[in-house]
Amino acid sequence: MAQSLPPITPGTIVGRYVVIGELGRGGMSEVFLARDTWLDRNVCLKMIPLEPIAEAAIRERFMAETRVLARFNHPGIISIYGVGEHAGRLYAALEFVDGHPLRDQISTKMPLAAAARIGLTIAAALSALHAQQILHGDLKPENVMINRNGTARLVDFGLADTFEDPIYARSYSSNIELALKEALGLARPEGYERRYTRELSGTPLYMAPEQWKQEPLSGATDIWALGLILYEVLSGTLPFDVSNACATSLCARVCSNIPLSTLCDRDDIPRDVGQFVDRCMNKKPKNRPTALEVVSFMERKVRAEAHRHKPHANELSVLRSPSYRAA
Ligand SMILES: Nc1ncnc2c1ncn2[C@@H]1O[C@H](COP(=O)(O)OP(=O)(O)O)[C@@H](O)[C@H]1O
Ligand SMILES: [Mg+2]
Repeated sequence: MAQSLPPITPGTIVGRYVVIGELGRGGMSEVFLARDTWLDRNVCLKMIPLEPIAEAAIRERFMAETRVLARFNHPGIISIYGVGEHAGRLYAALEFVDGHPLRDQISTKMPLAAAARIGLTIAAALSALHAQQILHGDLKPENVMINRNGTARLVDFGLADTFEDPIYARSYSSNIELALKEALGLARPEGYERRYTRELSGTPLYMAPEQWKQEPLSGATDIWALGLILYEVLSGTLPFDVSNACATSLCARVCSNIPLSTLCDRDDIPRDVGQFVDRCMNKKPKNRPTALEVVSFMERKVRAEAHRHKPHANELSVLRSPSYRAA
């Protein structure tokens, strides 16, 4: 990230927004909470430094990201309010999610009802994107925000593109080992500057076999990542060993014909859920369910779980019945 730009700190005025504080930092952006002084509401400002050596590519990518967002008005997709340029940075004013990234919830196993609700919203958002032939392309728990009432929103459309875009055929080539180190939470390696262009993928951990093999991508590529996310929220771990992961071993594990670990042998997870997650992580894109199929499955699970956890509703109705009234 360019070092020479003036820092953005609380009180900095960016267009009609006043910065309140930092919300997060992605690989390529600085993200702030700010106040829209005209509309009197909080917004999220995502700012991308304009590095002189890649300025044209950064502008092109930023326009692609923001225009994708501008096409949607969906409860599972972050809304965009406007764009601008400030002190060597491009910025987008986005709907502020008052909550946390899904990543913060992963270490503890999530109850099925909550996981199904999150899976349902992500899948509904993906089905809206895929219907327009758009791939999110960087689905991972860092890019799913959960607001205070537990509702999910997809953020970070920095790698979103149309299925036909040939860029994906040459993505993921450079710096992959370093990107993996970063994804595994090892310190950002020396000399590794992720640039906000389309040359490098987001996170190797969630890359589907077709991404590793540089084959054509489709909506199924996002479903693979959703399968991994579902596995992770339900079990607290990824479906492969990451302790000694290097790009070669991860690629071999993901691209071989041997399925990833399954949730089917776990007593605490219903078998049909384990099988469905396995389908999402099928090595062949054509064998994975569509986003709409994930929506239907998750809807059924949300309903079934609500029903299962409502026996007290019957108890209550018994308590309310005349025979239980105090004499
Ligand atoms: N609309 C938002 N509301 C609240 N926090 C957000 C929002 N968008 C992003 N963030 C936070 O900022 C982080 C980085 O944003 P992201 O769009 O993923 O940037 P990058 O493209 O650099 O990864 C996210 O992981 C999240 O923690
Ligand atoms: Mg991100």
